[in-house]
Amino acid sequence: SGKFTFDPGFLSTAACESKITYIDGDKGELLYRGFPIEQLAVNCDYLETCYLLLNGDLPNEAQRKDFENRVLKHTMIHEQMTRFFAGFRRDAHPMAILVGCVGALSAFYHDSLDIQNPEHRFVSAIRLIAKMPTMVAMAYKYSVGQPFMYPRNDLSYAGNFMRMMFGTPCEEYQVNPVLERALDRILILHADHEQNASTSTVRLAGSSGANPFACIAAGIATLWGPAHGGANEACLVMLGEIQQQGGIEKIGDFIANVKDKNSGVKLMGFGHRVYKNYDPRAKLMRETCYEVLGELGLENDPLFALAMKLEQIALEDEYFVQRKLYPNVDFYSGIVQRALGIPTEMFTCIFALARTVGWIAQWGEMIGEPDQKIGRPRQLFTGSTRREVVPIAQR
Ligand code: CMC
Repeated sequence: SGKFTFDPGFLSTAACESKITYIDGDKGELLYRGFPIEQLAVNCDYLETCYLLLNGDLPNEAQRKDFENRVLKHTMIHEQMTRFFAGFRRDAHPMAILVGCVGALSAFYHDSLDIQNPEHRFVSAIRLIAKMPTMVAMAYKYSVGQPFMYPRNDLSYAGNFMRMMFGTPCEEYQVNPVLERALDRILILHADHEQNASTSTVRLAGSSGANPFACIAAGIATLWGPAHGGANEACLVMLGEIQQQGGIEKIGDFIANVKDKNSGVKLMGFGHRVYKNYDPRAKLMRETCYEVLGELGLENDPLFALAMKLEQIALEDEYFVQRKLYPNVDFYSGIVQRALGIPTEMFTCIFALARTVGWIAQWGEMIGEPDQKIGRPRQLFTGSTRREVVPIAQR
């Protein structure tokens, strides 16, 4: 019609104003509320990062303690929620379980929730941050047929999650501090990333005034795809396949296949809509990879060696150089998670756990705006022009 800007994939449309996360894709810079991700990853933990994203500034000691106490009050889920898990096939993908169960939380917190009230919005955020580790761990325990582990509030956020994932009622679970710190770092690095597909989905769903738990379920559904949060899972599968075909020697053949546009094969963990430089999160993730593999005595892990060689070859290849394709956060995060003992099909759930704070912070920012509008894209219509309906007997 000519009245609208045609921008499929939203390559050049800013759909909102936001004060939360800033990315300079050319420089490879990521700031949460102005603070560089490199400094947050070293000096802060995930809960401080959550406080920052939600409140706009880092907490002092007292604010942090108060925030943590509020989160700890909500770590359990309603006992009736545990029965939702039992409705799934035991081989269901944990992301399917997570979409369903987080959506189901809306049934528990709906009538009492006034989204126009900032305190209610804050409590919804706290509930989500507190309950996600419990629910993600339950999705995993259900899939392996082990009993659910209830949260332990004397452990750190990451430590409690590790215990709920890997502990059993039979014996005391010892949290390894190096692995705990690595998991916490994964959570910080994935906490927010401005208007990516899942966050935009949460905003669009929320713009109708929908229940925030239902909006987060919509975000989880979007995150599941291999072009978004599913990439770390896809990346590890890819590395495993190259390894099976012969490992480092076969990288050349694999890259040739990626460059052949008819193959439909992509180098997973490479490329980004916004970063046209090295993703700063990928650098931190590679460091974490060294630390974790060192701690576990897995320095010679063949997949890590393969990933580093693949990265080196791709970064020197004309195809990737020309298109400014660099490793993204997912290139190394799968190797770290695998070393932590997290099964591949759980990777995207960990991403969802981490990103929940970003989604709910962005949702809260939008709902808090005075003149917030429902999101309603237009289209360029390419279908039939007007025609007349013929009764069925004459068609
Ligand atoms: N392997 C091979 N070629 C690629 C890749 C890749 N990973 N990524 C982009 N290209 C090519 C693409 O084919 C296109 O080539 P041409 O110009 O010849 O048609 C060119 O590079 C530009 O790519 P695009 O598809 O227009 O870029 P986009 O901004 O639409 O897509 C992306 C970004 C992340 C979806 C894409 O790079 C991709 O699929 N990467 C692999 C999946 C992945 O790692 N995703 C994780 C993203 S970071 C975590 C997250 O945000 O969830």
